[in-house]
Amino acid sequence: MNENSPMYQDLSSVLYSTEELRAAVRALGERITQDYRGKSPLMICILKGASLFFTDLIREIDLPLEIEFMAISSYGARTVSSGEVRLIKDLDRPIENRDVMIVEDIVDSGKTLSYLMRLLNSRGAKSIRLVSLLDKPSRRVVPLTVDYSCFQIPDAFVVGYGLDYDEKYRNLPVVGVLDPKVYSN
Ligand code: IMP
Ligand code: MG
Repeated sequence: MNENSPMYQDLSSVLYSTEELRAAVRALGERITQDYRGKSPLMICILKGASLFFTDLIREIDLPLEIEFMAISSYGARTVSSGEVRLIKDLDRPIENRDVMIVEDIVDSGKTLSYLMRLLNSRGAKSIRLVSLLDKPSRRVVPLTVDYSCFQIPDAFVVGYGLDYDEKYRNLPVVGVLDPKVYSN
């Protein structure tokens, strides 16, 4: 896909190019490899937004890790979180005594991740850390610290590289700010 694609025309700006995303994901993978040396983390991809980031990230981590998938309710066709979190797909196996890493696309209000933390903490994991491609700390409603993130971004609604608006734009190979004209009428 190139910049003449109609999807690019809906962006007011590109925040991170494919090359910048690749470099940041590689650096993060190296950090996690060092921090988890000797361990076999269980990495949980939060569907659907984190799926592209997740599959790139795990290939940059040189550890005998295992993967799992969970799905959580999303915004729908809105750009502001409903604050309602619903579990759509749970894990297939126990996480007792595992070093768990939850992998998200973006942390906004923090409600989704704090819900997940509570749920997984009650299942006896040895450790739980949060990984997110993007972090919007200025929007936090629930106090929550992301352990690993690639980029902190200002308060803007972004799409691409897995992130959607109304289920679209996930396949854009860059992260960009969605032009408000797309959702304001
Ligand atoms: P939170 O529960 O408010 O932290 O919201 C987290 C979820 O909202 C993320 O997993 C995304 O699915 C969605 N989200 C938050 N901000 C954005 C954005 O700028 N673009 C697309 N999705 C977003
Ligand atoms: Mg989403």
